[in-house]
This record gives sequence, C-alpha cells and structure tokens, in this order.
Amino acid sequence: MTTDAILLNDWHAVAKVEDLKSTSLLPARLLGENIVLWRYENQIMAWQDKCPHRGARLSIGSISGDTLICPYHGFEYDTTGTCTHIPAYPNRQPPQRVRVKTYTVQECYGLIWVCLGTPDTPTPAPFAEWQDSSYRKFLCGPYNYQSSGFRAIENFLDVSHFPFVHDGLLGSRSYTAVEDYEVRKEETGFSLCNVPVWQPDPDGTGKGGKVIYNYRVWRPLTTSFVKETNGNCLAIYFTVAPINEEECLGWMWIAMNYGFEIPEIDLKTFQDKVVNQDIPIVESQQPKCLPLDLQAEFHLPCDKSSIFYRKWLREMGVSFGVI
Ligand code: FES
Ligand code: FE
Repeated sequence: MTTDAILLNDWHAVAKVEDLKSTSLLPARLLGENIVLWRYENQIMAWQDKCPHRGARLSIGSISGDTLICPYHGFEYDTTGTCTHIPAYPNRQPPQRVRVKTYTVQECYGLIWVCLGTPDTPTPAPFAEWQDSSYRKFLCGPYNYQSSGFRAIENFLDVSHFPFVHDGLLGSRSYTAVEDYEVRKEETGFSLCNVPVWQPDPDGTGKGGKVIYNYRVWRPLTTSFVKETNGNCLAIYFTVAPINEEECLGWMWIAMNYGFEIPEIDLKTFQDKVVNQDIPIVESQQPKCLPLDLQAEFHLPCDKSSIFYRKWLREMGVSFGVI
C-alpha cells in the first residue's frame, strides 16, 4: 500500500450507493488496493478484498445475511470482519486473529466513500448545493482516465483549453485570449476567483458571451465550481478516486437552478461529450503522473491555477500519482 498519508487519510468515492445491492459483492480499487464492498441492512462494509486464509478474492464469494463467505474454503466473516466459522473445523471457535482488514466507509451525496487510513475529516468535501432544493442535481460518470487523478483535476481547473478541446461547446477558437483571475489561499485548499471565459452559448439562448467561473479546490482530488449567467447558476462538484498512480475514476455532480424542463438524459449526454473530449487529451499527457517540480514543464501566467495546485500538493507532501 502507498505511504501517502494525505491520500490514505482522505475520503474517496468508489461507487454509487444505488449500485450496492444487499445481496451482491461489489469490487473496487483504490490507491492500488483491491476492496470489496457489501451491505447488510443499513450498514455498508468496505474491506480489503483478500481472505486472510489463502488470499482469495472475497468479492467472488457470497453473502448470507450478515455473513460474508469466502469462495475458497468457506470461511465465514461477520460485519466486523471477524471470522465466525471455519467449515473444516465446524465445532471449533476460529482463532481471534483471523480477521479481514476493514476500512472506514460512509455514504454521502449518493456515493460510497472509503478512507484507507484514518480520516482527516469526518465527511467528504462540502457540496453546497446538495441540500438546496432550488437546484436540480444529477450525477455524471464515473469517467475512467488512464492517467493520474491530479492530471484530471488540473484539467478541470484549466480554462485556456476550452477553445481547443471544447470548441463550440465551452469555448471558441475565435476567443482564445485568457483574462487574468485571482488565486486565493483558503483555510483548506484554495479558490480561483472571477475566472472570465467567453462561451458560445452560456445561457442556452444561443448568443455568445462572457461568463464568470469561481472554483474551489477543497481537497487534493475534490474540487467544484459555480458559473453564473443572469441569475442562472450551474455548479459542478468533481471528485476523483485514484485507482492507481496512473488511473483514476471521476465522479461529477451537476447542480443547476434553471433548465428544469430539459430532460436529464440530454444534460448528461452534453456532459459526457465534454468529458470525453478531455479524456484522450489528459491520457496523452506525459508523464501520466503530475510533475510537482515547476521546472519540469513550461508555465504561462494563465496557468497560475496549475502552479498553485502543484505547489500546494508539494507542500502537503503528496507522493502518489505525482513525480
Ligand atoms: Fe478464504 Fe481459504 S482462502 S477460506
Ligand atoms: Fe475540458
């Protein structure tokens, strides 16, 4: 397992709550570890996907009520990960030390979040619009990137690629100049304030114009922005789970206080299109891990979001998925 305490002690979204059925075992991968998720009534378990007996994958075993049964020799484990029954010795109490490694897990924003270490915070990063009923919300993804999660987040914070990667959707080749914006250090993380972007159709009227984005980076792999046009607010909460150093899973909640008449499928299709324009570019970036040495790549003034992000990650001592 990685020794990166920042990522080990953070929350990562590994699955949708609705995908975890009460009778099924759901495998996931986080920070290079194989995990198995399962549920008994209202309790969710996130365990190392490895039987302590001979290392078989528990996710290909079975569930019987509050018991998970290993597929290999049938060891039974209760919801705390303690072995309660060894079929080869049906009349003996299993030794106390036969236990599956368990992780901290919680449900939040319709997602299952796992922490492999000791959580730094009781809950995942805030999502202000979650409780606000004037916003409609829908979840997009998960999007798989064959790249470091930090490359995916940095791409999300970068507006100068809009005219090229998202020409006609989020930007236009006729408006490539980037105006200045402010980067502000926050108690946790940082903000990008008043980032102006020219968009071909910012409010759905078909007329191009300038919009203002305000970003907040909450955690190394969780960020959000709000963009406002004439009282219409669109917020995106983006969290990325690091599968390995060079692979990640991105979850995107979209919240809008307008456009209630637009079918959700149309909005999701639009978002999928945008992200699927980003993914091949991000995956093409070499190296796949994010370079924290600022001399390793060339920077422009408009890259100050990336510069700040990289410095911040380096200050914290992040080591997984970066070089
Ligand atoms: Fe799981 Fe033997 S490997 S019971
Ligand atoms: Fe993009």
